[in-house]
Amino acid sequence: MKGLFIFGEIKDVRQSGKKFSVRNFCFSLLQKRAKYFSGRNLVCFCMLFIFTSSGLLMSEGIPLKRLNDFAKKIEQVRSEEMGYPVNQNTHLKEFYEWYYKSKLYNVSLNNVGDPQQPSIYPMNTHEFENEVIKFFAPLYGFSEEEAWGIVTHSGTDGNMHGMYFGAKNLLGKTKQLPIVYVSEEAHYSIKRIADLQNLEIRLIKTDETGKMIISEFEKALDPSKPALVVIAMGTTFKGAIDDMEAIDEVLNRKKPVAVFRHVDAALFGGYLPFTEHKKLVDRRVGHFDSIAVSGHKFFGFDEPMGIFITTKEVKDQTNPFKVSYLNEAVPTITCSRNAISALKFWWKVKKTGYEGFEQQAKAILENARYLEEQLNKIGYKAWRNPYSNTVYFHRPSDKIMKKYALAPEFDERLGGKMAHIVVMQHNTRKFLDEFIKDLKAEGTPEPSHLMEKDVETKPKHWH
Ligand SMILES: Cc1ncc(COP(=O)(O)O)c(C=O)c1O
Repeated sequence: MKGLFIFGEIKDVRQSGKKFSVRNFCFSLLQKRAKYFSGRNLVCFCMLFIFTSSGLLMSEGIPLKRLNDFAKKIEQVRSEEMGYPVNQNTHLKEFYEWYYKSKLYNVSLNNVGDPQQPSIYPMNTHEFENEVIKFFAPLYGFSEEEAWGIVTHSGTDGNMHGMYFGAKNLLGKTKQLPIVYVSEEAHYSIKRIADLQNLEIRLIKTDETGKMIISEFEKALDPSKPALVVIAMGTTFKGAIDDMEAIDEVLNRKKPVAVFRHVDAALFGGYLPFTEHKKLVDRRVGHFDSIAVSGHKFFGFDEPMGIFITTKEVKDQTNPFKVSYLNEAVPTITCSRNAISALKFWWKVKKTGYEGFEQQAKAILENARYLEEQLNKIGYKAWRNPYSNTVYFHRPSDKIMKKYALAPEFDERLGGKMAHIVVMQHNTRKFLDEFIKDLKAEGTPEPSHLMEKDVETKPKHWH
């Protein structure tokens, strides 16, 4: 009887032309059938109505329970994540509150075009993007007059612009495509981009710390061809910084026909300018032509983004492809660009400021030093490069690797299987202590086990 009654009700809601939802269904029950219910049943239905109206179960066809479960799971994983260079302290609540109040979710924004040129398309945040670049350019040694830059989709997008602008710059000057020189421990995006641009790439051997071996660079350098040198400012696994001064010395002595230096400072470019080691990312010292930094790594954003900075002179060497409907001002690789990320970056710069970033940089470096000490104290062989927040060590059990989302690596010179922790703002001392406690309970790994090579998953046709 009850089943038939509810079935009839669902049919009624469907036939009423309203979209079927638990909310509409309950509403209809309450409106039309309240008279059939005893007081207790009515209370139950009222509660169901309030529950569903509040959007906890279902909102106009969106299964909110599934989404809420997912969000809960992510929140749990968040605090234990320490194998990747991402600051999970995003602190964007106020931004989203403002965004919601401003009703900007009603419009589609797009930063297409050159932010420094007037745009025919008005729905952009170029003015905020320019202020972000204005804040960072001097921190990397670019003068306000010479600097040109954008808020990118990611660190890789910044590398893409650096290598594309670099290659076109060198081609324009010499009528020859350059050879790319980069350390073999640099991020794989450099190889990907060289592959994409059909550029010859020479991978330079690294020492045990992950730094490019300068004598190997000198051996590989072909002075008859233009050189596109990509400098690793913090390699992904060991956090090594290539010696820019030594690279410069070789370039000045060997004198290739032309040189372009791009710095991949995805993570380190975020914090180094706020430390006493700021000279390492200063173009007036390192003579680089462009730099790429990720936004979601040190700065802590809830989605990938980054910054790319070069000079106006370099930018002007690229082909704008005369897009008349966009004011002939599109030097960027992608047409559409994220306007909200520029707005968020601006918000974060205003909210945190130089001193805020300075404190965060200090904290992650101190905590990284602490972690290295604690690991060595319990007999876990651990290393850390100077100026680095990345601690690498002999690989623990699979259980620990999984629990803390640690990234694996293999280096025979250091004993074989390795793991690393990139100490970010959300990795507190308390949390690092818990990690150490887990490792201590497990004991140090067997040297013979560490030397067992990881299974190669590379298909045969890759090279
Ligand atoms: C050294 C280095 N360069 C580039 C990247 C790529 O940055 P993104 O993930 O922002 O594209 C990474 C990412 O981990 C990196 O470690």
